[in-house]
Amino acid sequence: MKSLILILFVILSVLDVSLARTEKSENKKTTYIVHVAISTMPTSFNHHSIWYKSILKSVSESAEVLYTYDKAINGFSTSLTLEEHELLKSQPGILKVTPDEMYKLHTTRTPEFLGLDKFASLFPAANKSSDVIVGVLDTGVWPESKSFDDTGFGPIPRIWKGKCETGTNFTTFNCNKKLIGARFFPKGFEAAAGPIDETIQSRSPRDDIGHGTHTASTAAGSVVENVGLFGYANGTARGMAIGARVAVYKVCWKGLCSNSDVLAGIDQAIADNVNILSLSLGGLTRDYKDSIAIGAFAAMEHGILVSCSAGNSGPTPSSVTNVAPWITTVGAGTLDRDFPAFVSLGNGKNYSGVSLYNGNSFPDTLVPFIYAGNASSHQGKGDGTCVLGSLDPKKVVGKIVLCDRGNIDRVEKGNIVKSVGGLGMVLANTEKDGEIPRAEAHILPATAVSFTDGEAIKNYLFSNPKSTGTIVFQGTKLKVEPSPVVADFSSRGPNSITPQILKPDLIAPGVNILAAYSKNASPTSWYFDSRRVDFNILLGTSMSCPHVSGIAALIKSIHPDWSPAVIRSALMTTAYTTYKNNHTLLDISTNKPATPFEFGAGHVDPVSALNPGLVYDLTTEDYLSFLCALNYSHVDFEIVARRKYTCDPNKQYSVTNLNYPSFAVVFKGGNNEIKHSRTLTNVGAAGTYKVSVKSDVSSVKISVEPEVLSFKENEKKSYIVTFTTSTLKQNITQRFGSLAWSDGRTVVRSPIAFSWKLQ
Ligand SMILES: *[C@@H]1O[C@H](CO)[C@@H](O)[C@H](O)[C@H]1NC(C)=O
Ligand SMILES: *[C@@H]1O[C@H](CO)[C@@H](O)[C@H](O)[C@H]1NC(C)=O
Ligand SMILES: *[C@@H]1O[C@H](CO)[C@@H](O)[C@H](O)[C@H]1NC(C)=O
Ligand SMILES: *[C@@H]1O[C@H](CO)[C@@H](O)[C@H](O)[C@H]1NC(C)=O
Ligand SMILES: *[C@@H]1O[C@H](CO)[C@@H](O)[C@H](O)[C@H]1NC(C)=O
Ligand SMILES: *[C@@H]1O[C@H](CO)[C@@H](O)[C@H](O)[C@H]1NC(C)=O
Ligand SMILES: *[C@@H]1O[C@H](CO)[C@@H](O)[C@H](O)[C@H]1NC(C)=O
Ligand SMILES: *[C@@H]1O[C@H](CO)[C@@H](O)[C@H](O)[C@H]1NC(C)=O
Repeated sequence: MKSLILILFVILSVLDVSLARTEKSENKKTTYIVHVAISTMPTSFNHHSIWYKSILKSVSESAEVLYTYDKAINGFSTSLTLEEHELLKSQPGILKVTPDEMYKLHTTRTPEFLGLDKFASLFPAANKSSDVIVGVLDTGVWPESKSFDDTGFGPIPRIWKGKCETGTNFTTFNCNKKLIGARFFPKGFEAAAGPIDETIQSRSPRDDIGHGTHTASTAAGSVVENVGLFGYANGTARGMAIGARVAVYKVCWKGLCSNSDVLAGIDQAIADNVNILSLSLGGLTRDYKDSIAIGAFAAMEHGILVSCSAGNSGPTPSSVTNVAPWITTVGAGTLDRDFPAFVSLGNGKNYSGVSLYNGNSFPDTLVPFIYAGNASSHQGKGDGTCVLGSLDPKKVVGKIVLCDRGNIDRVEKGNIVKSVGGLGMVLANTEKDGEIPRAEAHILPATAVSFTDGEAIKNYLFSNPKSTGTIVFQGTKLKVEPSPVVADFSSRGPNSITPQILKPDLIAPGVNILAAYSKNASPTSWYFDSRRVDFNILLGTSMSCPHVSGIAALIKSIHPDWSPAVIRSALMTTAYTTYKNNHTLLDISTNKPATPFEFGAGHVDPVSALNPGLVYDLTTEDYLSFLCALNYSHVDFEIVARRKYTCDPNKQYSVTNLNYPSFAVVFKGGNNEIKHSRTLTNVGAAGTYKVSVKSDVSSVKISVEPEVLSFKENEKKSYIVTFTTSTLKQNITQRFGSLAWSDGRTVVRSPIAFSWKLQ
């Protein structure tokens, strides 16, 4: 069975999702994306859209074109029966017919944390309205949010070709000089799930979920002072590129984003002339032929930087998604901010926890405290996870209840405890959840603790029949050290498609991020939560991706001529990998130093990224050579790159020669020597750079030829780096290092990841 799900990369998804359509199976229609060899169009058709309709007519009486794609692919989407689908596949000119699938969303102190305040004083122009347009493919937008205020903005950029579409509770008046475009793409979703009920969902660019408003305002929201969530994270909220324009493409419905809608959104965004595309969503990682990868290829050719979330499947190795080398793939780190709420026990011991609960908390006294597993009802399983019906009201009324994480959502557990008369809740991580509790806007006084602390509290509860406790909420704590640390959920490398391309590319803040939100959604996304907020705190690589999208927009506004690859190179080679004390950034899931498989080139540093010195540029031709190295067929080239392309049979193509700003060295098949070739472009002053290499493995020799490169302004110079392993029977499978060019002031640093594959 193929998964029908594409995900929003946010860790807060209690979205009620049902895509089942009740139809007789023989007539059941599936949506397909149809790739067409445009060069084979008979001359009798004067427009490809007419040809597509005629192809469709020949296989089905009733089928209609859902979308015609012009920029992202050559082709269209349509809903067909199995029989019609079989017929279509064999029509002349048809390259490939792929069933539609769903992507999922990868569900303010950030500016100071990133040094953006410094950035503004260095580049005052960065504060003014710019002509850079950030396209956000997501759940839509809440246009009334102050984050989209356009006060002081200049006229809409002349290159802009987009528009503000009308639909449920949304008109062209909802756009302005900040939010310059808003469109919606419901056809793929509706073909799968049936028509959108406009009494409960907006069939328009309006955001009913909050995710899209959050990501768009994180990337390019205006400055809004004195905001917070229930008094937490108080301060000024602002996007990364406060002067950039926002164009919203609503491609996700109820948190699901169909491939055909996403492709239509990318197709339109290219035509509309956006400069940056931000996608906090993804699906399964299989090849470079999914809608995001293919659409991103076309976007890259139009000079658009595509920034995507890496996924929330960490700390599992090889879980990183959106790994095409023409995509900037963003993992998540923490901020230096926390929301402590500790548990104080009757025995005088305290255990730290985190919470975003607001409201009346406990009086300054201890109250009875019980483990959910000791408060089970007759029908309950007594497993301590606080599922519906598992708690005996008589045993929990007037008490704090300790619930184990698991089975159901964390906020839902609080609702269940509250509904049977519980006073408060302590949520304990299970062994699988580890040591990092999640802060939530609970609807009753509640805090979350680590597995170890949860076990210690249970020990007390089990050995004291009259156990008591209380929860002490401490608000917002700043300057938490160490920070950043790699988030446990952030998806990790190695890259499962091409292990020679290191992914993720870098990390950015993605934990407990405050940004604008939808008034049609509750802060916890739960129906039983009637609260509405202007700003919400969310976590996920969904949140880190728009940070990089916005920073890329800022760089683009200062260096309009930089290609997407140059901007990414600047972000990567200037990213930092250590704290001020020179210790490597930690991975919160192990509390050990993180590696390039977790943070790629490191944590984004916007100020340094403006002056990278040297950059690794890439052109469409370079990516085509990369696809030649992957042995792409003629059909593959037409699908991914929309062109007939023939690899030169006399040329030796190698994935190791893609001019990427990082190195993933794979020793396998008895090959103990691997060469990577690279070309640097000087975007700074003329100067002489020397190379230095570091690695944590003595059995690999790294040699760079030449070791010194002198650059005039704008000059390009190439080098070859050779990695030689003295043993193929390594008792390790992964090691790391770095390669850096420096002129004494600017350091151009690339991470290296070594892997050994015994076969
Ligand atoms: C830029 O905007 C920020 C946020 O409003 C402000 O703190 C800063 O002083 C401004 N800088 C300049 C140079 O105008
Ligand atoms: C549209 O707005 C009206 C009036 O404000 C409101 O009653 C309705 O619920 C809204 N519909 C949606 C889907 O948000
Ligand atoms: C945050 O702001 C709210 C509302 O303005 C205020 O009540 C609260 O005291 C503030 N909290 C902190 C920690 O500053
Ligand atoms: C635990 O917290 C309470 C405040 O609720 C404080 O009075 C007490 O001193 C703390 N105990 C320890 C051991 O830190
Ligand atoms: C509470 O539950 C724990 C673990 O399930 C068990 O060991 C303990 O005996 C129980 N305590 C009481 C008082 O039932
Ligand atoms: C960190 O390393 C740099 C460069 O090697 C050095 O100048 C600096 O003193 C070191 N800082 C600490 C705290 O060790
Ligand atoms: C491509 O084909 C060549 C020659 O058959 C083979 O050596 C190489 O391993 C293939 N590369 C990939 C990525 O499959
Ligand atoms: C490999 O490493 C493991 C753990 O460090 C060790 O137990 C084992 O003996 C080593 N094997 C070899 C062949 O060195």
